[in-house]
Amino acid sequence: MQWFLANDKRFLFHIEMNNKVVGYCGGFVPQKIGDGSASGMFQFAFNEAVKGIMKKPWLIFNEEVRRMYPFLWRNIKRKIFRNANATTVVNTHTVSTFAPHTGLVVIGVHTDYRGKGILNELMQYFDEKAKQYQCSFAKLSVKQNNTRAINAYKKFDWQIVEELGNTYVMQKNYSVNA
Ligand SMILES: CC(C)(COP(=O)(O)OP(=O)(O)OC[C@H]1O[C@@H](n2cnc3c(N)ncnc32)[C@H](O)[C@@H]1OP(=O)(O)O)[C@@H](O)C(=O)NCCC(=O)NCCS
Repeated sequence: MQWFLANDKRFLFHIEMNNKVVGYCGGFVPQKIGDGSASGMFQFAFNEAVKGIMKKPWLIFNEEVRRMYPFLWRNIKRKIFRNANATTVVNTHTVSTFAPHTGLVVIGVHTDYRGKGILNELMQYFDEKAKQYQCSFAKLSVKQNNTRAINAYKKFDWQIVEELGNTYVMQKNYSVNA
C-alpha cells in the first residue's frame, strides 16, 4: 500500500459503506519502459521481502515463488547494483510504441457487494484519474481464467489487446479532451 502512496504518479482509493471498505482500486503512470508495478513494488518492499523469507525460508521452494524466480533474480540484481549495471531486455518495437498511459494495478469489490454497482463507481473514478494524468489510454493485466473480471472490464469498454502466457492485457482508450 505504501508503494501506491509514495509518489504522485500513483494512486489508491476506496469506497466505504457503513464504515466498511467495500471496494478499492489502485493504479500508476509508468515513466518509462520496464517501469512495471510488480518490479516497482518489489524494489520498494525489498527489505520486508528479505525479512519475510528469513522468517519462513521454506517459502523459497513454494510453487508460486518458484515460478517467479526469473523476475525475482532480475530484481535482486537491480537492487544490489542499484540499477548501475541492471539491464532491461526490451523489444525495440516496444520502445517505439511506448506512450504515457495509466496502469490499473489492483481492483476488488467485497464479496457481499459484487454485482451491486460498486464497480461502476470505481471505474468512473479510475477513468477520471487517467484523464487527470492526460493519458490517452489505460492498461491492465488479468488472468485468463478470471472470467468475471474480464466480463466486468468489457462492460466498461476495456478490450483484450494482447495475450501474455496465462494473462490477457486489456486496454481502454480515452479521448483526452473529453
Ligand atoms: C472483478 C470485480 C472487481 C468485478 O466487480 P463485480 O461487482 O463482481 O462486477 P459486476 O458484477 O458488476 O460485473 C461482472 C460481470 O461479469 C459477469 N459475471 C457475473 N458473475 C459471473 C461469474 N460468476 N462468472 C463469470 N462472469 C460473471 C456478468 O456479465 C457481470 O456483469 P452484469 O451482470 O452486470 O452484466 C470483482 O468480482 C472482484 O473483486 N473480484 C476479485 C478480485 C479480482 O479478480 N480483481 C481483478 C484482478 S485483475
